[in-house]
Amino acid sequence: MKRVFSGVQPTGNIHIGNYLGALKQFVELQEENECIYCIVDMHSITVPQDPKELRKNTLDVAALYLAVGVDPSKSIVFVQSDVPGHAELSWVLTCNSYTGELSRMTQFKDKSKGRESAPTGLFTYPILMAADILLYDTDIVPVGNDQKQHIELCRDIAIRINNKYKKTFVVPDGRFLKAGARIMALDDPQKKMSKSAENIHSRISLLDEPSKIKKSIMRATTDSEGSIRFDAENKPGISNLLNIYSVFSGKEIADIEKDYEGRGYGDFKKDLVEVTMEALTPIKERFEEIRNSDELIKILRDGAEKANAIAEKTMKRVKDNFGLGI
Ligand code: TYM
Repeated sequence: MKRVFSGVQPTGNIHIGNYLGALKQFVELQEENECIYCIVDMHSITVPQDPKELRKNTLDVAALYLAVGVDPSKSIVFVQSDVPGHAELSWVLTCNSYTGELSRMTQFKDKSKGRESAPTGLFTYPILMAADILLYDTDIVPVGNDQKQHIELCRDIAIRINNKYKKTFVVPDGRFLKAGARIMALDDPQKKMSKSAENIHSRISLLDEPSKIKKSIMRATTDSEGSIRFDAENKPGISNLLNIYSVFSGKEIADIEKDYEGRGYGDFKKDLVEVTMEALTPIKERFEEIRNSDELIKILRDGAEKANAIAEKTMKRVKDNFGLGI
């Protein structure tokens, strides 16, 4: 049995990219592993947040975890800031990382572009993420492709500390799906689908209304060739839609291509609306139920207690190996 850890930021607009890249894996992995799923609210405050909104979004993501099928009787579900070990370990890792390696992170480069001075939290964000992972002796981290560089850095820091001090950390591996790992924006298939893009039709959020889903898919950018064929380089728009169709329906892309031979984009998009709706409607229904129940807070408190018990053990080992405390 392996230890699995992953997290999602509670920043609103959780979309099908988050679902197909990460959340779907969370559910698959919980059957045969010891899984810990976190709502990483401390990562969210690397950019300004409205306190009320943040707490609402935290509970929304927790409810979404459960709505997509994460089962609290099998997996630990909790909120990052409820376990102090994350911040504590983050400092120890900060003292064993370099400004050079943090400056190379593409996410930091993107987010700080054009600014003379960026928030320090944005810069050290990957260290807090490494702390999340290493705190639980994690073997596997299910994430989308955009987190690859952060996982690499986490591994580098763990190996560096293991070599310098006594063996302290398990060195984790990322886990990426073939089709869902990088869902692209519907309005611009050169960019990844994102929670924060201004155009709401660039993404399909898990809680979107059917009419919005339809609109976003029907106006998705394709090409002028008109044939339904996977070719990520030359036909990124239709290839992205084929990917989405494939993961939602469970059909192979080659089979979908055959089904739509000689048919137009309009037909294909209409069916994609159906396939997407079929997958998202039950999630939305379960979400409403869970979000409005008293159970949610209890599940998160219980999860934090279990997570904290594991975290405290790791912190004791870290402190012993570093000579911290008495
Ligand atoms: P976040 O909140 O941006 O995204 C949550 C998960 O969704 C994946 N994802 C995507 N997958 C496919 N296509 C997309 N367009 C797409 N957009 C996002 C992300 O890869 C992620 O798996 N840094 C992380 C949160 C985090 C974390 C951790 C993850 C903090 N600590 C420890 C794993 C382990 C993030 O910002 O994810």
